[in-house]
Amino acid sequence: MAAFKMAAAMAAVALVAHVKATEVPLPPCLDPFQPFVYSGCFQETSSTQLLPFRSPQSSDDMTVEKCVAECKGNGYRYAGLVYYGVCYCGQTVNGPQVDESQCNLPCNGNGTETCGGNGIFSVYSDPTFPVEDVTIEDYDPLGCWTDDSSMGRALTYRQDKVDGATLTTEKCLQSCRDGGFPFAGTEFGGECYCGVVIGNDTYAAPASECDMPCNGNSGQTCGGRGRLNLFVAHELQSLEPCGYEPPVSSSTTLPPTSTATSTAPPETSTATSTAPPETSTITSTSTTPITSTTTTSSSACVSTTVVPPTCEYKCGKWCSSPLPDWDDVKSCKGAWSTCAVQVASCFKQAGWPEVLDCFDFGEWCADVSKYCDSNPRGGCRKGDFWGKKPPKGGANPPKTITVTTTCAPASTKPPTTSTTTAASSSTTKCPIPTPTNICIQPTNNHYGYGPGKPVGGIEMPVVTCNDLAEDWPHYPFKGYTDVESRKCRKYPRNQCTNACADACKEQYEDCVDVYAEGCKRKPSRGRDASYFEFHSSVEKRTWRWNDEWSGAVSKCKAQYSDCLKVNRGVTGAGKCPKFGGW
Ligand SMILES: *[C@@H]1O[C@H](CO)[C@@H](O)[C@H](O)[C@H]1NC(C)=O
Ligand SMILES: *[C@@H]1O[C@H](CO)[C@@H](O)[C@H](O)[C@H]1NC(C)=O
Repeated sequence: MAAFKMAAAMAAVALVAHVKATEVPLPPCLDPFQPFVYSGCFQETSSTQLLPFRSPQSSDDMTVEKCVAECKGNGYRYAGLVYYGVCYCGQTVNGPQVDESQCNLPCNGNGTETCGGNGIFSVYSDPTFPVEDVTIEDYDPLGCWTDDSSMGRALTYRQDKVDGATLTTEKCLQSCRDGGFPFAGTEFGGECYCGVVIGNDTYAAPASECDMPCNGNSGQTCGGRGRLNLFVAHELQSLEPCGYEPPVSSSTTLPPTSTATSTAPPETSTATSTAPPETSTITSTSTTPITSTTTTSSSACVSTTVVPPTCEYKCGKWCSSPLPDWDDVKSCKGAWSTCAVQVASCFKQAGWPEVLDCFDFGEWCADVSKYCDSNPRGGCRKGDFWGKKPPKGGANPPKTITVTTTCAPASTKPPTTSTTTAASSSTTKCPIPTPTNICIQPTNNHYGYGPGKPVGGIEMPVVTCNDLAEDWPHYPFKGYTDVESRKCRKYPRNQCTNACADACKEQYEDCVDVYAEGCKRKPSRGRDASYFEFHSSVEKRTWRWNDEWSGAVSKCKAQYSDCLKVNRGVTGAGKCPKFGGW
């Protein structure tokens, strides 16, 4: 057994010694995530790289936080900083631990932090990886994939020390497992590759193209010419990858009370909220007018709150934020914008299969715009449009919520009854006059996507000017990914590119969750709508989707990669020059 362990260790050493820098780095993780844990000071030996992935970011202003975000964004488990701030990432740490005193250089970007030494790394680890022992049994086959891109390998790390003449699937999986790599692939009968992510120009291929027996076991297939038999072990991936949103315990926007009785479920809490932790500390305020009556007596205050329909349009677990009332073309267009920027949140939150109704919601928003343009007789009014195209799913009637609280003791006023009608949002909000995205939808003729025709019809979330006055001076941009403006991510002027990268990522996730999922689940029937009746929104929406699941994922991936590329140059220069000036 000792000999076996030694061999495994050798394999692990082998894979890190041969690094091809073909990996296309994903952006650093901008979402909140569990902090990495300091793991010690480690030395690189002359024969191996301690951590194989080198961050493309400059070391001039490197900090621990930046390096860790880079590794998190790229799916690596370990982050290491060396020599004043050169940042590396990896799935395993391939070198001995040394005394803490050897990590003694300050970081260029923050002198109070330590960035290793000369050839010595300060190493941090992501605590969100599962701890169970992973074996080669945990690798699931993903089928046959291409590996013939001019842009580099599908999997970055070739295992040259695994003997090609005797290669079997198990030997390759073992080598990748020892290196901590979630992806493994065999190719051309005798080649073995490992990776943390799949290369950006890699696609699922027909199974028949993986047609070469393994050199070490003719009963197994080891890829083909430029074709990989691909495997994944999810156990080697983080349980909370970048963008993971922890389940939110339901909270309510009711005022703090000792006893609260509601005649209706507290509508305002619409616990569909899945805000990332950083925004969950913000007290959310409803942006719709609320009429409340407060009766004060000496011992208890009873307030009755009439909540307008909060769920004007409903798709599964998602509810739209009500459109503002309108009575002329300008305010009608404002309502359209309020509608259009919510489409992305619908795709994100509705849940399968009702998420397919989000396409209807998007069309309904477009109808609002058409209505604004149509100069209707008798004036342009919300009620008129409602009569023609009522919102679907929701339209909850106004609800009355009664809250009983202990009165503030300081009150010396006589019992009063007051009725107030107020816009409960304490901030100045300005309608978004046009939901035009600052970010660019990429084009790819091979896959057929482009502006107005994204993969699966799922648009990027709109990134445009921030509509909240208080935030605007420091954060002129906002990515509209939630019905509540406050929960949307906001960006300083110099981070417009990041806003677009986030929007690309969001679109990619929706593409996989909705389009690829729809391709997988669509009823297998004829391709022509006229041959069958639509029994469900699934059928109605998916009958034109001709991709298989893996092909759909490839398209989503290609679009994401193109999206990051075309948006790298988007700086937002000249956009949103002043609040309300778009
Ligand atoms: C520098 O690092 C320390 C320790 O992590 C941190 O408390 C501090 O906020 C950082 N300073 C800056 C300017 O980022
Ligand atoms: C993959 O990444 C490389 C390097 O950034 C880039 O040149 C190439 O266009 C990318 N591939 C696709 C399909 O976008």
